[in-house]
This record gives sequence, C-alpha cells and structure tokens, in this order.
Amino acid sequence: MNIILLGPPGAGKGTQARHLVDTRDMVQLSTGDMLREAKDSGTEMGKMVADVMARGDLVTDEIVIGLIREKLEDQTDHGGFIFDGFPRTLAQATALDELLKAAGKPLDHVIELGVNDEALVARIAGRSTCGNCGEVYHDVTKPQPADGKCVKCGSTDFKRRADDNEESLRNRLMEYYKKTSPLLGYYYAHELLRRVDGLAEIDDVQGDIAAILNDPA
Ligand code: AP5
Repeated sequence: MNIILLGPPGAGKGTQARHLVDTRDMVQLSTGDMLREAKDSGTEMGKMVADVMARGDLVTDEIVIGLIREKLEDQTDHGGFIFDGFPRTLAQATALDELLKAAGKPLDHVIELGVNDEALVARIAGRSTCGNCGEVYHDVTKPQPADGKCVKCGSTDFKRRADDNEESLRNRLMEYYKKTSPLLGYYYAHELLRRVDGLAEIDDVQGDIAAILNDPA
C-alpha cells in the first residue's frame, strides 16, 4: 500500500509516518528529511537548498523529484511507501503519478491531516527531535523524557529546526496555501482523497489513519 500524507507544516505528517513505519513496516519517504540530510552532510545540493529552506520557500521541483526518483529506484518498499511532504506542487504530483506507473505501483490513498493555523504555530514552536533517530517531541503534548534520554534510542542529543521560527513558518504556510493546497482538488478528482482530523490526539489520529488503511473499499 502506497500513501501520501498531505497537510501544512506541523500538521503531524512526520509523527504519523513514523508510527506507520513502526507498526506496518512501511517506508517513509520524507523530502524534508532528505534535504536536511544533504544540508548537514554539506553536499553541493545541500548548500544550494540551505537558504531556501531556512526562508521557508519551496526547493525546486527538479531537485525533489530527483530525490524521490532515486529512492523509488533504490529502495525496497516493504509494506509500502509513505510520501511525507511530497508532492507539494502539481508538477510534483504528476511526476509522482508517472514514477509510480513506471514502477508498476499503485497510489492507494492521499490522507489530508486537517488542522488550523493557530494549532500549527503552537506545534512548530514546541517541536524538538532526537538528533540520532529523528523521534519527534513537543514541549507540551509529547515532552522529552525526564531522564533526558530519547524513548526510542536513548540518545541525549535533541535538536530544534532552523526553520521553526515565526517568520519562516509564515512563509511555509503561504507556500502551502498557494502551491500545495491545490493538490487537494487534484486528488479529490482522482478519488484518492481521505481526510482525518489532525487536531485530535496523536493516538486518535493514528486510529483514524489505520481505519482508512484497513478499509478494503
Ligand atoms: P518538511 O520537513 O517536509 O516540513 P513541513 O512540511 O513544514 O512539515 P513539518 O516537518 O514541519 O511538520 P509535520 O507535518 O511533519 O509535523 P510533525 O509530525 O513534526 O519540509 C521542510 C522544508 O524542506 C520546506 O519548507 C521546503 O523548503 C523543503 N521541502 C521539503 N519537501 C519539499 C518538496 N516536496 N518540494 C519543495 N520543497 C520541499 O509535528 C509537529 C509537532 O506537533 C511535533 O512537535 C509533534 O509532536 C506535534 N504533534 C503532531 N501531531 C500532533 C497531534 N495530533 N496533537 C498534538 N501535537 C501533535
């Protein structure tokens, strides 16, 4: 089963994708994580995208489609792929259709995590991640453990993202509304769009997504 998690910054795409990796042996393909990895390892492409990401603008379609193409060629899909943060433009959506068609893989569901801007600001402001395994925390809703060790891997290295500030978030939201939200219509027309309440508790969102994935219809 191959799915897209669609929603604005902070909607919970990464949090839900990691749960699906743990529980369903799915493979998470997060273009945000791939770009941050390139930036941290100092590749030419990483240097090119660093400022764009810090501002909260979108990286070019060519770069991100190239990243996804490579992953689809290299990676075995186990329980299926979760596209997290990709596609974000209509050009990326049509490129993904072609890549999946060429690989003989279906796109089963596009799941929109519905949230509101107020909640997004609070979520982004409180987010931290484990620098070793990427587990996502939140100062209020999922605080780092009292012993200072990541629940998943025991690391004590926690990070906050460079683009998790108010100015960049405002820009990321504008990019979402201008360039990514038209994909809701695109996937609705393809009868693939499903919606869950992203404002619900993390466990409840997990349950709602599981219900969609378990639905044979
Ligand atoms: P990317 O890394 O994809 O960031 P994003 O889309 O802005 O999404 P986030 O990672 O910020 O949020 P999320 O929805 O995963 O939320 P999370 O689960 O962490 O992209 C970063 C940048 O890379 C872009 O701005 C762009 O420059 C570039 N880029 C990436 N892909 C691109 C593409 N395809 N094309 C062009 N450019 C691209 O949750 C957030 C917080 O909320 C956490 O603290 C979490 O604990 C908490 N939380 C989650 N769910 C809940 C809940 N239900 N209730 C309460 N708290 C919750």
